[in-house]
Formats: sequence, structure tokens, C-alpha cells
Amino acid sequence: MLKPRSLALLGALFVCHLATASGARITEGHIKNIVTFGDSYTSIDLPQDGGQAWPVYLAGYANISLHSYARVAATCSPNLTTSLVASVLNDELPLYFTEKNNGSLGSLESDTTLYTNWIGTNDIGYSGLLTGQAQDGASIVDTTECAVGWLKTLYDSGARNFIFQNLLPLQLLPTYAPDAYPSKFWNAERNTTEWHIGIAELVRSGNKLAELMLTQMAANLSDAHIGIFDSYGLFQDMYSNPSKYLNGTAPLNVTGAAISCVYDLEKAATDCTNATGSQLDSYLWYNEMHPGEQANRVIAQQFSEIISNGTNAWLRWLH
Ligand SMILES: *[C@@H]1O[C@H](CO)[C@@H](O)[C@H](O)[C@H]1NC(C)=O
Ligand SMILES: *[C@@H]1O[C@H](CO)[C@@H](O)[C@H](O)[C@H]1NC(C)=O
Ligand SMILES: *[C@@H]1O[C@H](CO)[C@@H](O)[C@H](O)[C@H]1NC(C)=O
Ligand SMILES: *[C@@H]1O[C@H](CO)[C@@H](O)[C@H](O)[C@H]1NC(C)=O
Ligand SMILES: *[C@@H]1O[C@H](CO)[C@@H](O)[C@H](O)[C@H]1NC(C)=O
Ligand SMILES: *[C@@H]1O[C@H](CO)[C@@H](O)[C@H](O)[C@H]1NC(C)=O
Ligand SMILES: *[C@@H]1O[C@H](CO)[C@@H](O)[C@H](O)[C@H]1NC(C)=O
Ligand SMILES: *[C@@H]1O[C@H](CO)[C@@H](O)[C@H](O)[C@H]1NC(C)=O
Ligand SMILES: *[C@@H]1O[C@H](CO)[C@@H](O)[C@H](O)[C@H]1NC(C)=O
Repeated sequence: MLKPRSLALLGALFVCHLATASGARITEGHIKNIVTFGDSYTSIDLPQDGGQAWPVYLAGYANISLHSYARVAATCSPNLTTSLVASVLNDELPLYFTEKNNGSLGSLESDTTLYTNWIGTNDIGYSGLLTGQAQDGASIVDTTECAVGWLKTLYDSGARNFIFQNLLPLQLLPTYAPDAYPSKFWNAERNTTEWHIGIAELVRSGNKLAELMLTQMAANLSDAHIGIFDSYGLFQDMYSNPSKYLNGTAPLNVTGAAISCVYDLEKAATDCTNATGSQLDSYLWYNEMHPGEQANRVIAQQFSEIISNGTNAWLRWLH
């Protein structure tokens, strides 16, 4: 049994711990730069949402500078899953280091700069693990290790503030729905039920592995601030409660795509039904593989809360 005095002491320690936990991280006006890594969900060059990418909205909402290294179609490492275009390890991080070292990024002070990574959708999906196209022997363990390894590489170069974005529930995308139709993303034969089940398994195990790996890593990087942004939870909530988030003039739609293009094998072309103008913001998905612009504004709004005071419903700081 604890004596009252010990209890009081315990209480004091607990309060003290909580105070550090909520106060030592990102505080108002503190973060001045965001450096983003990832794939088409984050790339600003060819945004796949019909409008602006979330980091561009965030830079505007939070009035911070954006340095974007995310690339369309990127995977984490070409040694695990090939990309015709780019990977975090071979292209994005090297370009960041080149630009940092040659002075073109100016001074990115570690305490005012936040680094984010949202990668894995292409590693686990129809061009990777799901269809057996990963390099020999590569598994969800390797692709997840690669994604969290990004953090250690940047840490070793002096970076200290990190947000790791976990995978959204990809099984909800039109491409991975049980009743998926052939599209420009995938029009070969497949069993849509098996894809739906398989991608859900990969997303959920990848997210859990990332959480465990980051927690283990964080214990060693005590002077870093490491947060996990729960994209899975946020998108599940947008899917389940669309009226909290979507605001276009068409009926709210979380299953179809705003630009819905059915691939016709005989014509070898797609046949599209397109939302336009203010209807676009009614759709969770822009096309069969990508979130819509309003969903991306929502991500930016959540991040802008994080920038403003360090807390957000979808963010969990490991420390
Ligand atoms: C945005 O940030 C810049 C540079 O930090 C500052 O000069 C400017 O006043 C800020 N603008 C607003 C609207 O807060
Ligand atoms: C990929 O594998 C090759 C050969 O083992 C190695 O030299 C290279 O560093 C690896 N690249 C990455 C990004 O891990
Ligand atoms: C720094 O490197 C980048 C990427 O190679 C290049 O585009 C840029 O011109 C370089 N800047 C300077 C000042 O050398
Ligand atoms: C597709 O996969 C599901 C789940 O394994 C199976 O029940 C179903 O029979 C398959 N459909 C076809 C057409 O093979
Ligand atoms: C922690 O750091 C030590 C020393 O750098 C290293 O040997 C160890 O593998 C690290 N542990 C983890 C879990 O990263
Ligand atoms: C959602 O959008 C798709 C694509 O335009 C359409 O086929 C579907 O009927 C819509 N669903 C609802 C519930 O409006
Ligand atoms: C629908 O949008 C797609 C993609 O932007 C475009 O290629 C297609 O021409 C559009 N179709 C119609 C009927 O507007
Ligand atoms: C929906 O809300 C966003 C702000 O989150 C706003 O920028 C956008 O214009 C709105 N869309 C419509 C169609 O009103
Ligand atoms: C953080 O800021 C957001 C708005 O930017 C606000 O809704 C939220 O209540 C704030 N949280 C705290 C703990 O101050």
C-alpha cells in the first residue's frame, strides 16, 4: 500500500511528466518550415486531386515555408519495390541532402523545422506487395522498416521534429473496393474480393509495425520529437461521417470517384463520368486511387493545428 505522502509525490511526478509531454514539443509560432517526403498523395508538382496538394494548403494555412521532396509514384526503396519514377531512399533524400549542403535551402534550423513522410501506398499496392511484384523476398516488414528508416537518416543529419503519416485505409479506395471496376490504374483480370481483403491486411499490419518500430526507435532518440499522424483514422472518419468534412454541392460520396473512369478493354480507352466545379468537394476520392481536394484540405487543417499548438485529434506524440 502506498502512504498518502507517496501518493502525493506520485501525483506530482505524474503532473510534471504530463506537463513535459504536452509542453516541450511544438509550440505556437515555433515551426517555420516543413519538409515533406512521400508519393503522389503529398507531391505538389502534379497534384492528383484536381487542385492543390495538402502541403500547399498547409503552407498557406499555417504561414510556413514548404520544401517538398515527395514525388508521384514514389516507393520507399528501389531495392524493395521498383518505381518507374522515384523513391524516398534513392531520389528524395539525396536531393534534400544535396540542396541542404549546397545552401539552396537556406538555414533549416532543427528546432523550427518539421519533417514528414507519407510513403508505402505504392510499395504495398497493385505495383508492389499485393501482386507479388516486390523484389525477391521483400515483405511488409522490409517496406515498413524502410519507411521508418527515413527518420533515422534525417535524425543523424541533425533533424529533430518528425511526423510519420501512417497509411490510409486503402481498402476503401475505388481501386480496392470489392466491386471495383477496371480503370487506368488496373484493368487486367483480378479477384476484387481478394484484393480488398489483401490490401486491408497489408495496411493494417504495416501501420502496426510502423508504430512498434517507431516506438522502439524513439526510445533511443530522446532529444527528438516524433509523432504518428493517424491517416488511417482520419480517412476512416471521413468515410463514416462525410458531412463533418465534405462540403460540395453534389450528394456526398465516399465510395465513387469524382473523376470516375471505367476502362473499356475493347476500345482500350476509359469512359468517364466527371464531377465539376463545386461538386468536386462532395467526393472523398478524386479518382480511383487518390483522395480529393477537400480531403487534402482536411489533412492540411489538421496539420495546421499541429503547427499552431502541437496537438491534434489524429496525432500521437511518442515523445
Ligand atoms: C507570415 O510569415 C512571414 C515570415 O515569417 C511574416 O513576415 C508574415 O507577417 C506572416 N504573415 C501573416 C499573415 O501572419
Ligand atoms: C540497393 O542495393 C544495392 C546492392 O546491394 C546497394 O548498393 C544500394 O545501396 C541499395 N540501395 C538502397 C537505396 O538501399
Ligand atoms: C543545389 O543543388 C540543386 C540540386 O542539384 C540544384 O538544382 C541547385 O542549383 C544547387 N544550388 C547551388 C547554389 O549550387
Ligand atoms: C474471389 O476470391 C474470394 C475470396 O477468396 C472467393 O470466395 C471467390 O470465389 C473468388 N472469386 C472468383 C471468381 O474466383
Ligand atoms: C540504440 O542506439 C544504440 C547505439 O547507437 C544502438 O546500438 C541500438 O541498436 C539502438 N537501438 C535501437 C532500438 O535502435
Ligand atoms: C458516387 O459516385 C460514383 C461515381 O460517379 C457513382 O457511380 C455513384 O452512384 C455515386 N454514389 C452515390 C451514393 O451517390
Ligand atoms: C473527365 O476527366 C478526365 C480526366 O481529367 C478527362 O480525361 C476526360 O476528358 C473528362 N471527360 C469528360 C467527359 O469531361
Ligand atoms: C469546402 O471547404 C473548404 C475549406 O475547408 C473551402 O476552401 C471550399 O471552398 C469549400 N468548398 C465548397 C464547394 O464550398
Ligand atoms: C490547438 O489549436 C486548435 C486550432 O488551431 C484548437 O482548436 C485547439 O483547441 C488547440 N488546442 C490546444 C490544446 O490549445
